[in-house]
Amino acid sequence: MGHFDNILGHGESLIKNEAALDFEFIPKLIPHREKEQQEIAAAIKLLFMNRNGRNMFIYGSPGVGKTVAVRHVLRELEDTSDEIKIVYINCWQKNTSYKVAVDICNQIGFKFVQNKNTTELFQVIARIVNESAAVFVFDEIDKVEDTDFLYNILEQVYKKTLILITNYHSWLIDLDERVRSRLTPEQIEFKKYNAIETKSILKDRLSYAFPSGVLDDEAFDIIAKKAGEIGDVRTGIFLLKESAYIAEESSKRKIGVEDVIKAISKLDTFTIKNSDALEEDTKFIYEIIKEHSGTKIGDLYELYQKKGGKSGYKTFQRKIEKLSENKFIKTTKSTGKGGNTTIVEKKLTDF
Ligand SMILES: Nc1ncnc2c1ncn2[C@@H]1O[C@H](COP(=O)(O)OP(=O)(O)O)[C@@H](O)[C@H]1O
Ligand SMILES: [Mg+2]
Repeated sequence: MGHFDNILGHGESLIKNEAALDFEFIPKLIPHREKEQQEIAAAIKLLFMNRNGRNMFIYGSPGVGKTVAVRHVLRELEDTSDEIKIVYINCWQKNTSYKVAVDICNQIGFKFVQNKNTTELFQVIARIVNESAAVFVFDEIDKVEDTDFLYNILEQVYKKTLILITNYHSWLIDLDERVRSRLTPEQIEFKKYNAIETKSILKDRLSYAFPSGVLDDEAFDIIAKKAGEIGDVRTGIFLLKESAYIAEESSKRKIGVEDVIKAISKLDTFTIKNSDALEEDTKFIYEIIKEHSGTKIGDLYELYQKKGGKSGYKTFQRKIEKLSENKFIKTTKSTGKGGNTTIVEKKLTDF
């Protein structure tokens, strides 16, 4: 039998709607977060009354719906009115005031960002936004290297709601006093879902993603239980997707308990991949790789040391290997004049 003989025929994938298994997917309803969404909307509504909005600081552990609840409210806002400008930035990708400024310009439709420094960009942003009002969301705010952009917005934009999202409550406590005293945000904690809530959210997701009957109750219960134990919906969605892929690989028409068990065995890698779980020094190394993709490992180590990295070369190498194993980065051996070396590159997708 050839390698491709037993593949499912065209259109026979077990998954009905692959997009519904993306973490970024925004379902029509976000159950168990009604109260939180109302509070977010209330802070924004002031802008419609021609007043300054309230700022918010949203915190809670990973996978508890912080991002999706906020994005859902933004989507409703977008559908309701175009009076208010909407800016959403993930600070894991945009981690300096300059990068944030350029991204804001893109999102509010200002194209001539070349040759402008951060201060000039914020003058432009203020001029444009001050014609109306804006909501700025900074997700994973703890990833930023500096907070000048917050200060700029707070000082120069008159009518705005700033929403900051993070897994770490302590981030606010450590925030520069100058910024904090101007921000005075309302704080909302997103508490973990209980097992029943987790299960019902996953059940909804299941019906978006799969035709009925593909995942039997017993298999689904194992997934719901696992995600419920840690109170992290993202883990549940990962397991739904992974078990479907595993079942598809053996051309099954249904996802069985054994597929789910195999998927669970992949959880460790997934947890490490979930960027928040990366240990600090490894994150630091990863950031350097992102900035200097395609560099030789020895040169990277020099950069790492210059930026204040403290690990020895062996440890550094091990951390690079770990990042590579977990598919954060790609390493390729190369032979040149100076002997063998390893080229380190970032992967295109960020987790
Ligand atoms: N109440 C909910 N209803 C529907 N989907 C949810 C809900 N809470 C979380 N999710 C889903 O779980 C995943 C993780 O949620 P997310 O908002 O990204 O978590 P966080 O930002 O808190 O880490 C996302 O794919 C999201 O769509
Ligand atoms: Mg999030």
